[in-house]
Amino acid sequence: MNPTALAIAILYAVVCVLATVFLLIVWRSTHRRRPSQEDSTDTRRLAHGEKAWFAVAIALLGVLLVATIPFTPYGEGAGSDDEQQMAVEGVQFAWITDPGEITAGKKVRFTVTAGDVNHGFGVYNDDNVMLMQVQAVPDHPTEVTYTFKKPGRYQIVCLEFCGVNHHNMVGTFLVRPA
Ligand code: CUA
Repeated sequence: MNPTALAIAILYAVVCVLATVFLLIVWRSTHRRRPSQEDSTDTRRLAHGEKAWFAVAIALLGVLLVATIPFTPYGEGAGSDDEQQMAVEGVQFAWITDPGEITAGKKVRFTVTAGDVNHGFGVYNDDNVMLMQVQAVPDHPTEVTYTFKKPGRYQIVCLEFCGVNHHNMVGTFLVRPA
């Protein structure tokens, strides 16, 4: 289990326990015996309790927000001078990449298009794990960014059936050490 998955599992367990405790408290509060005289209800105490619950709910939401924000894939800048560019074109039945080499540890912005029909741009590492994929569509460039941490040769596999040689539509590019 990788550290991120473990952190998510722990967070999930904590949230489950908190939710269970919360539900038990709510259940208890609604099953408490009522005072015998209805008109003796202390509305000021009830109002105070409501405020306390509101504070608890806000605090819980705040904790959840702070705890889960690191796992969101957003927050990357909309582009910087520091990133690398790679143009990718899919054609029956090959991948054209320009340039054919990039550097590890620095964000790559892929601009993916197709020269004839729709293709599927899928990038795999040497363990055959897919890192990302995006459609390659004629006349509609798609942008996607990725940062390769490990140097090596990566494989591009077509993920959209595009003709008789679709299964042979495989390419590679090199990620140089930083
Ligand atoms: Cu290109 Cu399948």
